[in-house]
Amino acid sequence: MFVLILVKIGGSVITDKNVYRRFREDSCKKIIQTLSILNEDLIMTHGAGSFGHIIAKKSGFPKKFKQEDVHAFSIVHKDVLDLNTRIAGIMLEEGLSPISIPTQSIYRNGSPDLTDFKKYLSLGFTPLGMGDVILRAGMIKIISADDLLVALSAVFKPNLVIFMTDVDGIYDNDPKTVSDAKLLKSIDRNIAFSQVMNDVTGGMKSKYEKILKIRKHAGKVVVVNGNKPERLNDIGEKDFIGTVI
Ligand SMILES: Nc1ncnc2c1ncn2[C@@H]1O[C@H](COP(=O)(O)OP(=O)(O)OP(=O)(O)O)[C@@H](O)[C@H]1O
Ligand SMILES: [Mg+2]
Repeated sequence: MFVLILVKIGGSVITDKNVYRRFREDSCKKIIQTLSILNEDLIMTHGAGSFGHIIAKKSGFPKKFKQEDVHAFSIVHKDVLDLNTRIAGIMLEEGLSPISIPTQSIYRNGSPDLTDFKKYLSLGFTPLGMGDVILRAGMIKIISADDLLVALSAVFKPNLVIFMTDVDGIYDNDPKTVSDAKLLKSIDRNIAFSQVMNDVTGGMKSKYEKILKIRKHAGKVVVVNGNKPERLNDIGEKDFIGTVI
């Protein structure tokens, strides 16, 4: 059976989000090893973690573009490319053939242009997208890898979409600040997010809203702990640790 898997490697897993440009090479390697063994068609994307968020936040992005923003914009973009190159290097070492698709070129016109993903996937490459800053209609916008997966899912109708973060899945509250937060093993797509949990931070809320959009086009969406990628082998089993949407 033809199986296509879309993956987002969270910046929270492969970088230390508190330390500017700190890459977690071992975590990244373990994830890519696990994905390459699956031996399925893959489209990968990654978040920016501390290669993007720290300077973007300091610079007030997203915002209306002003001439004085040029340098900070350029730094964020270069740092994202740096992270992307490190990931692509590990993919090559693990036998994959990555091809980085620049976010700038995807969001050039009205709707996202995903033709390069199609072209390279059909030729046996593993397309690699990334969250990045873009300039559009006088605005500095941030396109997250979560956004990319929404666009990619609508076109590719993947069998499986995998989100990896640094926690075990989606909880009823932020597991990092609420000690008795409970992991939600499955979430019914019909239940509104605010009814399931009205206390979560914007970050996970907006990720969840995007996941609901993706769910319409994907066979299955899972959120797993990227530090335990081996759990991917248990998808569909009773003892799978993660959230299935
Ligand atoms: N209800 C929740 N369930 C799970 N995680 C939550 C929840 N609320 C908040 N979080 C936080 O969300 C974080 C993951 O989101 P975050 O955007 O930081 O990661 P990411 O998407 O992997 O990073 P990036 O945006 O750089 O790719 C977790 O570290 C967790 O602390
Ligand atoms: Mg995020």
